[in-house]
This record gives sequence, C-alpha cells and structure tokens, in this order.
Amino acid sequence: MKVHLQTYGCQMNKLDTALVAAALKDAGFELTEKVKEADVVLINTCSVREHAEQRVFSHLGHLKHIKEARPGLVVGVIGCMAQRLGHKLLDNGTVDIVCGPGQIPNLTELVKAAIEKNQRCISVADNIRSIGCNPELEDFESVQTSADACLPGQAFVRAMHGCDNFCSYCVVPYVRGPEVSRPVNKIIEQVKRLAGEGVRLVTLLGQAVNKYKYVAGEKTYTLADLLYKVSDVEGIEWIRFVTSYPQKEGFAELMQVMADSPKVCNYLHIPAQSGSDRILKAMNRRYTAQQYLELIDTARQIVPDIAVAGDFIVGFAGETDEDFEQTVELLKQAFYKNCFVFKYSPRPGTAADERLQDNVPAEVKKQRNYRLLEVQQIISGALAAEFEDRQVTVLVEGLSKKPHLDAAGGGDNPQLVGRTADDWIVVFNGPVSLAGQFAQVKICKTSPLTLFGSLVSNT
Ligand code: 5AD
Ligand code: SF4
Repeated sequence: MKVHLQTYGCQMNKLDTALVAAALKDAGFELTEKVKEADVVLINTCSVREHAEQRVFSHLGHLKHIKEARPGLVVGVIGCMAQRLGHKLLDNGTVDIVCGPGQIPNLTELVKAAIEKNQRCISVADNIRSIGCNPELEDFESVQTSADACLPGQAFVRAMHGCDNFCSYCVVPYVRGPEVSRPVNKIIEQVKRLAGEGVRLVTLLGQAVNKYKYVAGEKTYTLADLLYKVSDVEGIEWIRFVTSYPQKEGFAELMQVMADSPKVCNYLHIPAQSGSDRILKAMNRRYTAQQYLELIDTARQIVPDIAVAGDFIVGFAGETDEDFEQTVELLKQAFYKNCFVFKYSPRPGTAADERLQDNVPAEVKKQRNYRLLEVQQIISGALAAEFEDRQVTVLVEGLSKKPHLDAAGGGDNPQLVGRTADDWIVVFNGPVSLAGQFAQVKICKTSPLTLFGSLVSNT
C-alpha cells in the first residue's frame, strides 16, 4: 500500500508529517511522491489563515475527481484543520480520515481501518484546552530518527506543544491545545540519538519556545538550561530555537546562552506583529513597541552580530494609517535580517473575530504588505552586502530548487543551497554529496534574500 503525504503550514507540521511518515513506514506502508500511484493521500493542514484552508479545500476538490475514478482511494485530513473542523470535513464525501495534531499516534490504525473495513474514521480532541501531557504522544515523538529529518543533517525537535498566549487573532491555542513542555531527559536522549545518526543541526520548536519550563524534582529547566544541555551533546554543531515570544522574563539569560555557547546559532525569530501600542493591545500581545525594541537592544548588546527575524500582521481590525506608520518605524528600528508579513485573516472562534470588525479593505492590506516588504528589502539588501568577499560556514541542504542565474559558475557541479548559522541562504556550486555536511563558501555577490558564492572547502 502506498501513501502520499502533503504538508501545509509551519515547521511544527513538517515535524508531524515526518513522524507520521516514519510510523507508516514501520507499519509496512510505502511512501510515494505521486498522488497518481497512491492508495492513501494524507494532507497535513494549517488553519492559521483562511487562505491556507482554502488551498486545502481546493486540493480536496481535486482529490474528489480522482476518487470518482478510483473509489478505493483513501483520503485523510490531519493537523490543525482536522482539529478545527472535525466531522464537518467528512460532509462532502471525499474525506475518509480526520485526525487532529494530538492524535497522530492513532493515525496508522485509522488508515488501516479505512482501508480494510472501508470505515470513515475520526480522532480529534473533544475539549482541546483541557488536555494535558499525553504520554502516547511523547512516546510517538521521542523515537524520531534522522531518517525522519526534513533535510539531511538536520532535525526539528519539539520542545513544547501548544500555546497559552491567546493572541486575539490566533487560532493556534484552539487547535494545538495548552502549552506542555516536553521532559528535558527525553529531549536530550532524542538529540543524542539524532546526533549519533549524523544530525548536525537541531531546531527546537515551540509556538512560544522561550516559555519552555520543565520541572524535574527540585529543578525547573528553562529554555536557556535546555540549550546548555543540548550544547553538551557531542556531534551536534548548531542549535536553533523558534519561535520566541517578546517577553522580558528569561530573555537576557537566553541571549547569554547564545553568547556563551558557540553551538547556539546567533539567530532570533521574534515576531513583533505590529509597531502600534493600540494594535498590540487589541492583539492581546503583552508588550509595547518600546518594550519590544528594548528586547532587541538587549539581544544586540549581549550578542552583537545576532540576526533577528520578525513577523508582522498588516490590516488587523481597526489598524489606521497612523498605526501602520508606527509598524514601518518599528521595522526600520529593529533592523531585521528578514521578516514575514501576513495580511490579517479573521479566524472563527478567536477573540478578534468575535469582538472586532475586519474593517481594513483587502486592497489596503495588500498595499501595507507590499510597503513593509519594500522597506525590509532595503535593510536585508544592506545586511546581505556586508557578506561580500567574506567566507562563511554553510550547512548544505542539497540541490537548489530553482536555478539562480546570479550565481558564479561551478564547472560541472550543480547548484547547491545551504544556510549559515544565522539563517542566510547561500547558493553555490558543488557536489551533491555535500548535502548534510558543512562547507566553507566565499561570498561574491548578494541579493536581499540570498548570498551567492563559490565553494572553498568542505569542512
Ligand atoms: N491572520 C494573519 N496572520 C496571522 N498569523 C497568525 N494568525 C494570523 C491571522 N489570523 C501570523 C502571525 C504569526 C505567524 C505564524 O502567522 O504573524 O507570527
Ligand atoms: Fe498564536 Fe500568539 Fe501563540 Fe504565536 S504566541 S501561536 S501568535 S497565540
């Protein structure tokens, strides 16, 4: 039996897909890249914006046609949309399996039941905010191997499940449940095993990963403690953690680990969402623009060459031109390496959707989105230009997906892509065998998003 897996959304989803793929392979299923030859199609879904859900619905529409010709095809929706919409997904007759993010340990059984008994199966949390630590999920997760990694030599490792922040626009607390920090010893065991299998970069994941807190006996472990422990694992060379919530508690300590441990990458993803205090309040973000910028200052004082990345939502309910100008100002002052900009998308069940009117016209959201990216482009371009003629260490991901015409030629070698510790994308020519390895690359040309160079050596 062949399974085709498709992932929408964030790194959490990528990790979940990798875990599901491993469990299915263990149970004797074969994975396929092609929907055409699949007996089972599983879609891991995202609910964070309406657009992400629309893409899944249009994909389901396509699968409906395939299923008309091949009624035996089993279709499953897993992840955030499964948790959010539950039974409703079964309504149009295309979907056979619905499985929430907390129920993925049951997925193999659901797939078998759908195939063997021709049953429609659903497994989602009834009252997601009341779920606590799930030992089944912990067991399912902690056996992750490097073969489940998304890229060679790299692995995502979950530090925390869920979110308790309840930013007023965000659906995550309702689909991923409350914050639960995974046990330190389980994480360390897992990282050691991954290192033994050739993983060099681990990225610790959590929606607000700097809120990590795990109590073991007398000791309460923070993310800073966890990072020191992961740093001690032999074989692991680089450690990243995403995403950080802008809070003062534990922040200086966290930055200190970055300064102290050469393995902890000088990279901080810390979404501001807005530069207007009025909007931040309406978003239920618990800081002001000034406090946010103070955190960035602290980060730069402790780790002078830190690369900072951010997220913004434009066109949030009630956002005026003046609010938006304050966002532009914050973006300029924060001097991000890069940032992700999203147009506000009201999500059913969230406080913003229930209490505030989505009153910024689509066209204005689009213009604000464009403007922020335009300003960021200038900053990114200036930061990227500083790399010219410098040699950087890169962890090679593999073949570059689209050919970059700007890159220097490299004889017969194909174009590869890798990233620096601080997350700059680097394109250069080299042998594919470098995937998963570190390489030294001399940068000769830059663009706001990408550094181009030539291979110096593979160490
Ligand atoms: N509309 C638009 N963007 C959103 N994000 C989260 N919820 C919404 C929403 N309802 C953005 C935030 C977050 C990123 C992952 O997605 O910027 O940091
Ligand atoms: Fe959503 Fe806010 Fe939690 Fe991030 S911190 S997942 S934006 S509720």
